[in-house]
Amino acid sequence: MTRARVGVLISGRGSNLQALIDACARPDFPAEIVCVISNVPNVEGLARAGRAVIPTHTIAHTSFPSRELFDTAMDELLRQADVRFVCLAGFMRVLSARFVDSWKGRLVNIHPSLLPSFKGLNVHRRVLDSGVRISGCTVHFVVSELDSGPIIAQAAVPVLPGDSEHTLAARTLVAEHKLYPLALELLAAGTARLENGRTRFANGNAQGQLFSPALQ
Ligand code: GRF
Repeated sequence: MTRARVGVLISGRGSNLQALIDACARPDFPAEIVCVISNVPNVEGLARAGRAVIPTHTIAHTSFPSRELFDTAMDELLRQADVRFVCLAGFMRVLSARFVDSWKGRLVNIHPSLLPSFKGLNVHRRVLDSGVRISGCTVHFVVSELDSGPIIAQAAVPVLPGDSEHTLAARTLVAEHKLYPLALELLAAGTARLENGRTRFANGNAQGQLFSPALQ
């Protein structure tokens, strides 16, 4: 089996990166992580990649005069590593349109809400304030508009009485760690792909299988 080469962009803790690393350790998993880039030095995610013997790079966005030049530096590293897919995993920078367009259909992100609800930051605070009883997480293709690309996979997570931002975030994170590997598997195996601005599943039933892995 040829595994799809994957680059992961992070800014911090890297627990989703860890979930992807663990999935890639499975002999039957169709992807391998060949490059991890952080825009913040010395973060936990870099240590996680180091322990898994994955090449890491720190590219501090603060060292670049513009967003485009920072993105170009990342792009060069990803292409040198011959990466096929790029996963954003807690990467806290907005990417330039040029970067997003050049990785179209090969760039994905995880967001801790059921998109298209609760795009942006401070998601769990806003979920609690809104009174919704079900939250969740989403893996989607990245497009220029923030948190708006075609959805690949989602998991539902209950909002429980007495939840704080912290407890809801922790429950959602458990679901994220199941969902991201599942979505990467679909992508790397060619089961899910971007076509005419929508996610197309090779198996028409694939979406059904994705319902709420966190609750099963
Ligand atoms: C996750 O909740 C992810 O959904 C969001 O940022 C957080 C990153 O956490 N985009 P980690 O760095 O993967 O632990």
